[in-house]
Amino acid sequence: MAARAAAVRLLHEVLTLGRSLDEVFARQVQALAPPDRALAHALAAQALRWLVDLDRLIDSASARPLPADARARQVLRIALAGRLRLKTPMHATIATALALLQGGPRRLCHAVLARLDREGATLPELPTLPVAWAERWESRFKPSALEAMRAALGTIPPTDLSLRNPDETTSWATRLAGQSIEPGHVQIAGSQRVEALPGLAEGAFWVQDLAARQVVRRLGDVGGRPVLDLCAAPGGKTLQLAAAGAHVTAVDRAAYRMARLEAHLARTGLSARTVVADLLEWEPDQLFGFILLDAPCSATGTFRRHPEVLARRHPRELPGLAERQRQMLARSANWLAPGGRLVYAVCSLEPEEGEEVVERTAGQGLALLATERLLPGTGPGDGFFIATFAKAGA
Ligand SMILES: C[S@@+](CC[C@H](N)C(=O)[O-])C[C@H]1O[C@@H](n2cnc3c(N)ncnc32)[C@H](O)[C@@H]1O
Repeated sequence: MAARAAAVRLLHEVLTLGRSLDEVFARQVQALAPPDRALAHALAAQALRWLVDLDRLIDSASARPLPADARARQVLRIALAGRLRLKTPMHATIATALALLQGGPRRLCHAVLARLDREGATLPELPTLPVAWAERWESRFKPSALEAMRAALGTIPPTDLSLRNPDETTSWATRLAGQSIEPGHVQIAGSQRVEALPGLAEGAFWVQDLAARQVVRRLGDVGGRPVLDLCAAPGGKTLQLAAAGAHVTAVDRAAYRMARLEAHLARTGLSARTVVADLLEWEPDQLFGFILLDAPCSATGTFRRHPEVLARRHPRELPGLAERQRQMLARSANWLAPGGRLVYAVCSLEPEEGEEVVERTAGQGLALLATERLLPGTGPGDGFFIATFAKAGA
């Protein structure tokens, strides 16, 4: 019961107040016993992965559509996620849902659940993508890629870890019962409680998506070299750079996120210079041979790990995000030393935040070496756009 009440609260904060599931989960459910915590997370995450289909079922069984933010809709979403995804028995589904609606429309919810049960309601094989994103992606991606993306939305992704010492890849893969796809990386099944893993406290690794690792690799060999890491927090890429022997200057404007980056540095024993600053105002006091700009974006490429992005974000936000990225890229281009390399990345699937930003950067003294699009479901991990630039001279 406590788990379901918490799941309804999680869903409300994520969908109505626009917060991320991880953030709300870290804050909201700490008082629960570990099994209830895990169940609350599983219910909320399943409801977010299957949101379009759950809402379709709820609407099909209601005489009048419930408002999107009505508590009764949140309770029904959680109840149906439990029933259809976690196989909660029907009597328990109804009893726990009604208990969450003291003073609310209990008869209506009972009628919706009973009708769906009577009609043998099921979910489709793969989750349906929200129409605002599906319309865009259908015109750009092949049907097979789109299907793989839907499958990725419906699947709990593995946990990817980056190792402080890549020489220990085989031993950590064995110890964590995982598999390694490249040196310095170990993948373990499912979304793990990372705090419980051996090696975390002593800083042997950090959580980092496998596709995110590829972004840093595009800088080439950074061992012993100064690297400017822009929009660095919470710091997965900073740690990767530092572990590769780079002398990193990490800049981010969010002090609370930078505190997390510093905690990761302290835990892993890695080092970087940290600067809390807005990079639309800040200037470095030297040029850098290597710059990474991991710009803030819609994050639509991260829906495997953060299914709520598809509901929280809307294409109408893209022009504003893209313009800020363009400004950031134009400024950072000025800080690249002749002969230097700059990597611009976004965890977005949208061309406005990828190809079009690169096109609008033409003529800023940068030569475009390569662009890549990594897609969730067919790529190594989350979706990314990565552009690699060089500056003439040396
Ligand atoms: C995609 S996240 C960076 C992830 C990070 N590179 C990593 O690997 O963990 C984007 C970051 O940009 C930061 N940011 C947004 N606007 C900024 C600005 N104007 N100046 C500096 N940092 C900014 C946000 O605080 C956020 O931490």
